[in-house]
Amino acid sequence: MRRVPSVKAMTAWARGLQREGVKIGLVPTMGALHEGHRSLIRAARLACDAVAVSIFVNPLQFGPLEDFDRYPRTLAKDLRLCEEEGTDVVFVPRAPELYPTEFETAVSVQRLTRRFEGLSRPGHFGGVTTVVAKLLNIVRPERAFFGQKDYQQAVVVERLVEDLNLDARVVVCPTVREPDGLALSSRNRFLAPEERKAATVLYRALSAGRRLIRAGERSVKRVEAAMTKLIWAEPLARLDYLAVAHPATLDEVRVVRGRVVLLLAVWIGTTRLIDNMVVSAR
Ligand SMILES: Nc1ncnc2c1ncn2[C@@H]1O[C@H](COP(=O)(O)OP(=O)(O)OP(=O)(O)O)[C@@H](O)[C@H]1O
Ligand SMILES: [Mg+2]
Repeated sequence: MRRVPSVKAMTAWARGLQREGVKIGLVPTMGALHEGHRSLIRAARLACDAVAVSIFVNPLQFGPLEDFDRYPRTLAKDLRLCEEEGTDVVFVPRAPELYPTEFETAVSVQRLTRRFEGLSRPGHFGGVTTVVAKLLNIVRPERAFFGQKDYQQAVVVERLVEDLNLDARVVVCPTVREPDGLALSSRNRFLAPEERKAATVLYRALSAGRRLIRAGERSVKRVEAAMTKLIWAEPLARLDYLAVAHPATLDEVRVVRGRVVLLLAVWIGTTRLIDNMVVSAR
């Protein structure tokens, strides 16, 4: 497995393979890798001839008051996980490599980012779309792999790739969960034991919403009320947002018809967690 810190070496590696017709899969991450990331690397390994994993804690997607400085960094362990999964190259640029002092371009997706995560984290998606555009341009993978855990991000990246005619296929992989339903996230490690228990409230609320819809409830107001009640009942949890939206447009709906996505963000102490579930009304 090669470890590449520079854009130049990364581009050279990718173009060399592409000249021989090798199809590259790219898995963009911020490190602190867990089983969710492992599943993305496996999907890439299965679908592509060569796998590149990028590990970059992207300063551009953190707000000034967010947890960039305390974001977990576990590079040695991350490299072992990548190696175990048969990764061919790990791209580990330092911030000035992607953002030299003269850097001044931003890539932004408009409407889709003005809600949910975008409202709670101003500037966040601008950072995501800018770094993803750069990574896709550097590697030019045949496919790029993202997790459903970050549902809105996946929709935004699909839009970006389509709108800028980027030559990659976006593959969205299912959310990997702990046995009790908590979605794996690098930020879970911040949870104290009591908070870790409370954090199951995200999955419990989503499951309750799904149960209601499957039982025939079509009023989004009532689905949201039931989910909200569960979150309010958890003393360590504070609801940031909760929404029922169209799975492709992310427009909020008032009546459940066909498929919808339940989206939420919840603070557990000082840790902010997100999760979602796609539900079909039958
Ligand atoms: N539980 C999961 N299942 C599947 N994919 C996941 C999961 N968690 C993260 N991913 C995906 O891994 C990719 C890299 O995400 P990232 O490195 O930010 O990890 P993370 O766990 O989301 O960390 P954090 O929650 O701190 O942002 C993203 O495409 C993300 O959706
Ligand atoms: Mg993340």
